[in-house]
Amino acid sequence: MKTEERTYFIRTFGCQMNEHDSERLAGMLEAEGYTPASSTEDASVVLFNTCCIRENADTRLYGNLGHVKSIKDRQPGKKIVVAGCLAQKDRSLIQRKAPYVDVVLGTHNLSSLPRLLRDSEAGPSFEILEQTETFPSALPTRRNSPWHAWVSISIGCNNSCTFCIVPAVRGREESRRMGDIVSEVERLLDDGVVEVTLLGQNVNSYGRDLDGTPMFARLLYALDDVEGLMRVRFTSPHPKDFRADSVRAMAECGVVCEHIHLPVQSGSDRLLKRMKRSYTQGRYLDKVRMVRDAIPDVAITTDIIVGFPGETEADFAQTMALVSEVRYDGAYTFQYSPRPMTAAADMPDHLPKEVVQERYERLAALQDEIAIERNARHLGETEELLVEGISKKDPGRLTGRTRTNKLVHFPDDGATEGTFRNVLITATHPHHLEGESVDAPVETVPAASTSRMSLPLVATTATSGCSSCS
Ligand code: 5AD
Ligand code: SF4
Repeated sequence: MKTEERTYFIRTFGCQMNEHDSERLAGMLEAEGYTPASSTEDASVVLFNTCCIRENADTRLYGNLGHVKSIKDRQPGKKIVVAGCLAQKDRSLIQRKAPYVDVVLGTHNLSSLPRLLRDSEAGPSFEILEQTETFPSALPTRRNSPWHAWVSISIGCNNSCTFCIVPAVRGREESRRMGDIVSEVERLLDDGVVEVTLLGQNVNSYGRDLDGTPMFARLLYALDDVEGLMRVRFTSPHPKDFRADSVRAMAECGVVCEHIHLPVQSGSDRLLKRMKRSYTQGRYLDKVRMVRDAIPDVAITTDIIVGFPGETEADFAQTMALVSEVRYDGAYTFQYSPRPMTAAADMPDHLPKEVVQERYERLAALQDEIAIERNARHLGETEELLVEGISKKDPGRLTGRTRTNKLVHFPDDGATEGTFRNVLITATHPHHLEGESVDAPVETVPAASTSRMSLPLVATTATSGCSSCS
């Protein structure tokens, strides 16, 4: 690193919300004249955008900080920044545990980054606020992808699921005006974006704080009318708020992809109550039936927590039964991790690690079997793919995603990322498919914004394929 250079490297932990916040942080740094560096070693500013949803996220941050500290010892001009959920949760603890950190900012004041960096010339500069001051959409953005964009429709969460730390670190729910969302999407299309993913902790309650009634379905119809937009995804709906009007909008809006991530967390009514999820297994299954009746080919994925305090073998059997019944296309499964500021952390009957591990493995094996069966349905079908770039594992192949969000690898035929391809599915696996392209690429993105390489400027260390909660 040359000390006079202003370069940055961002490592992101956690969910899509954090990935999007990192794009804003990168945007602000670039507006200040910083350019991206390819490693922590080369960067004059190293920023960790943190997650605190499970305990291992904490541990990993402090491991990473220790490593950068050893580089900073050799490069004293280097600035270390910690932002995001863990900073919001740990506040002064970071200062005590890692006094060499130059800047700490929380989830509510992303926009303070340039000022805090300037202030840090005089000494460590820490600022955590209790409420969001500027809706992050007003900030500049350095998108990781020319053809895909995250679009935040709301921030915060008004629920109180007893395992979840998000409300404590992200605050009350606040929706963005629909007109602002639609205008942002229109601007993104002018930039070459073809697919957007709408982000909110609970997308189905979108608009309740604006108009008194949820407006998510109306938002989907409004986006369906935006000319040139090819795909809309969203994450995540809360099952309790996922209603017929949203399902109808999904079915009627051609732009909305046939995939829904519907986090169930547990199949046991007793545990769902202890988790304060406000639905039963029966009501959840009604929602699944409602989506499948309206959109027969829909892919359904979920989040499940194993080993919530007090989970008995009978409770776990209910989760296994639910998974067998729904037949998910994919599931993110998590071992319960006690979090400070959550009600479950103080509940009695925390389970021994070995019991949780054994149940976790049983659930993963069942879900893998189901995913194999679900993916096998696509064998011999022709699927429309949005090409994402060169495969990370095999440089001779490209990867793309179906509308149902399945990852497909196919031989490199010269297609550029951000364009569409029809691909015949020739082999299926639990977590991806293989295929062969059957037509010429359909160019939908202006040539200037396509490329043959996808090198994200913001490194992501997803704690799993972690979804936003709900
Ligand atoms: N322990 C384990 N998993 C958790 N999640 C949220 N909080 C916890 C916790 N304390 C999971 C939920 C949520 C996903 C994003 O992370 O399944 O949907
Ligand atoms: Fe809110 Fe989702 Fe956390 Fe529940 S799990 S408190 S809905 S963010």
